[in-house]
Amino acid sequence: MAIALDQRVHLSQSIGMKILITGGAGFIGSAVVRHFSRDCGFGVINLDKLTYAGNLSSVGSVSNLPNYIFEHHDICDKAAVDRIFRAHTPDAVIHLAAESHVDRSIDGPAPFLETNVKGTFTLLECARSYWYSLPVSTRDKFRFLHVSTDEVYGALGAEGQFTENSQYRPNSPYAASKAAADHFARAWYHTYELPVIVTNCSNNYGPFQFPEKMIPTMILAALEGQQLPVYGDGKNIRDWLHVQDHAAALYCVLTKGVPGEVYNIGGEAERQNIEVVESICEVLDSLIPRGSFASYRDLIHFVPDRPGHDYRYSVSCDKLKNELGWTPSRSFEEGLSQTISWYLENRHWWQSIQKRYDGRRRGLGQ
Ligand code: NAD
Ligand code: DAU
Repeated sequence: MAIALDQRVHLSQSIGMKILITGGAGFIGSAVVRHFSRDCGFGVINLDKLTYAGNLSSVGSVSNLPNYIFEHHDICDKAAVDRIFRAHTPDAVIHLAAESHVDRSIDGPAPFLETNVKGTFTLLECARSYWYSLPVSTRDKFRFLHVSTDEVYGALGAEGQFTENSQYRPNSPYAASKAAADHFARAWYHTYELPVIVTNCSNNYGPFQFPEKMIPTMILAALEGQQLPVYGDGKNIRDWLHVQDHAAALYCVLTKGVPGEVYNIGGEAERQNIEVVESICEVLDSLIPRGSFASYRDLIHFVPDRPGHDYRYSVSCDKLKNELGWTPSRSFEEGLSQTISWYLENRHWWQSIQKRYDGRRRGLGQ
């Protein structure tokens, strides 16, 4: 998917860019919205349907900025998306809107096909039509950054890493839907020359993550004295990246990446799930001891495994580091400790979610 070096257009000179961010009320999307609007001063149009996973309080700190606009729509709604492109004339799209939870995709895959595949297709079509309408000088600078996952590459054994050339072998309905979306994005570059860039990132953690994902699930269960549900034997391995480092990586790819290219993003922090849970317990033991010599570790409870549970993910981000100069800014231990402190200090954020979220075990495929 490479294009000649002299065709590269670096957007970093273009201060005052307007970015259409889809899924900006979600976990990663809200970090990207905060980073681009508050830290970089870009114009941001946040397009989000506000599903169970969307939460406008996650972008509350920027919602009054003059360079921030919210559009409450579904990315599958072509008429609405067409109108948004024409009304706001964005210089780039960062596409994050998705159904993102593997366990939910096992219980009910249909919304994953709808949003992740049809929604991405709709967005690509609207972007293409808008892009064709731009003057040539603006058209060269336009970017469509499609945010995807390392799960499209399937599962690793004990050795090796995913690279940008790894074969696609999606295993869960979620991964299959993201893989399909990646192929559409790639095809829109090759067929229509829409300046698409794809990123495939490893597991994110950090503030504002919906409490269905592993790390917030464990933190909140521990705070409530409930069992910590570790799937299977707890030896599955994930590669963890702090969400703010992901946002910084997306900035780097948007401003310096080459259309048609794929960039893997990873945290260089592989941990077994059980190691992560034990680390959470250790931090909590030091911050808010349970008393009577009890440890949060006593709450660890092994539960039936996720069907088709991928054993290991590990991402080589050498291309992003060597070609674009990005690197993760914090260690996993530092980031985990900061994340736990954030959940302790922002109880109102997750307690308001708990009022509408039952927290029951999902993904057993029953
Ligand atoms: P999330 O579930 O926290 O947020 C998804 C957001 O998309 C929500 O605000 C939701 O309201 C919105 N949305 C869903 N369907 C929509 C639709 N049809 N139209 C408009 N908005 C819609 O997800 P996340 O964890 O922040 O992930 C964001 C993106 O990053 C996804 O594309 C995901 O595949 C990818 N990704 C996530 C991770 C991770 O570890 N969480 C890692 C790599 C890649
Ligand atoms: O790798 C990137 C992917 O990471 C993203 O594309 C997905 O959107 C994101 O949800 C995440 O997928 P995972 O399935 O890896 O994340 P999750 O937090 O659901 O689970 C992490 C690991 O922890 C996984 O091996 C399953 C395990 N787990 C999960 C939960 C919710 C548990 O042991 N107990 C739990 O309660």
